[in-house]
Amino acid sequence: MLGRIDHIGVAVEDLDAALALYESALGMPVVHRETVTEQGVEAILLDVGENHVELLKPLGPETPVGKFLAKKGPGLHHVAYQVEDVVATLASLKAAGLRLIDETPRTGIRGSKVAFLHPASTGGVLTEIVQPAERH
Ligand code: CO
Repeated sequence: MLGRIDHIGVAVEDLDAALALYESALGMPVVHRETVTEQGVEAILLDVGENHVELLKPLGPETPVGKFLAKKGPGLHHVAYQVEDVVATLASLKAAGLRLIDETPRTGIRGSKVAFLHPASTGGVLTEIVQPAERH
């Protein structure tokens, strides 16, 4: 049902400092940068092999990532798995008894469709499923 890991999400307070680490020191190329108002974040996507690291800076303290930062500080925020059909996957995860944050998908970066599962039912790991946009 789940494909490969698409990305890990990292909550940051300072995007320039995070880029100095991930892009300059660790050598990951930046492939995309986008403000996702719906999720309240400025996101930067970096390539690492076939996978990505997603840096997330909150647009304000009342956003989900802003609240995360206030509570836990910068660091690992979520793990995202690729799926072919996010709606069908959500339905089967719900049927399996998992608690969903998103009953219906929302728009992620680069036109993807994403949904989050509640960490209370995924062993404390905030988990995202991602259906990538079709590439032409
Ligand atoms: Co993500």
